[in-house]
Amino acid sequence: GKVGVLLGGKSGERDISLMSGKGVLDALISKGVNAHAFDPGQQAITELAVQKFDRVFIALHGRYGEDGTMQGFLEQMNLPYTGSGVLASALAIDKQATKRLWSSFNLATPRFAMLNANSDWQKIAQDLGLPIIVKPAREGSSLGLSKVTKAEDLPAAYALAAKLDRDVMAEQCIIGEELTCPIVGDGENARALPVIRIVAPDSNYDYHNKYFSDDTKYLCPTGLDLALEAKVQELALSAYRALGCKGWGRADVMIDQKTNQPYLLEMNTAPGMTGHSLVPMAAKAAGVEYADLVLWLLSKAGI
Ligand code: DAL
Ligand code: MG
Repeated sequence: GKVGVLLGGKSGERDISLMSGKGVLDALISKGVNAHAFDPGQQAITELAVQKFDRVFIALHGRYGEDGTMQGFLEQMNLPYTGSGVLASALAIDKQATKRLWSSFNLATPRFAMLNANSDWQKIAQDLGLPIIVKPAREGSSLGLSKVTKAEDLPAAYALAAKLDRDVMAEQCIIGEELTCPIVGDGENARALPVIRIVAPDSNYDYHNKYFSDDTKYLCPTGLDLALEAKVQELALSAYRALGCKGWGRADVMIDQKTNQPYLLEMNTAPGMTGHSLVPMAAKAAGVEYADLVLWLLSKAGI
């Protein structure tokens, strides 16, 4: 059959998706799959019908790719695709909806408040405690994100995030280790891959340090207590199931250094597949090469 790799797209993470998609496309071609790139940022999505793909690998990140809208379009076309369906994708792209859902399952996630231009900044700072993370509710790769250490800096952080999304969130900043845990599979058969610990320069795992720095260190195994690692895996798995994710995902987690309590930050339903990305790293630690991971994900594509 003919496989489409959806890459690029129209979100702020377009450049990252081009890198993910190229990795996926090259891997499929190396395995002898008849795979072709399709960029919904440059081609009308109605062209998908002309291409006669048998299935598609979604290597799009962010809005219009990871947020349920593309998934809905593919459902309408009856074209099997990788990863989560419409509802889980739409929930997971929205950090506010995600956190409310997780809280309803008693899954730990940092406290937050939604911001607007007239927010009471002093009260926000008091309620959440400084430092505070300000971010667009529906972005990825740390775009529009600020770490605020003074209440006076909240309005500028809000304005920056508000350029990217009408929904802006202030979140309690958990100080401690930064971890990520990929999940593969569906429902009861879903399982956690090894946890990765991220050590970024100045503890600042921003856009540059995510994709372009050679100074960001990735530790897998993490070197942390095994019981804590297991707790993170269990939390990530519960978070994935609560959202109803399918295929694969990656939960980003912080450990509070004072209490050792893990907190869920977010779930990525179309995680990065770049050379610096974390799901391929964890898969490799579990003995699965990049191309085999891609083939496996594609084999699970559905509608
Ligand atoms: N949003 C980026 C692509 C990631 O989570 O890997
Ligand atoms: Mg993300």
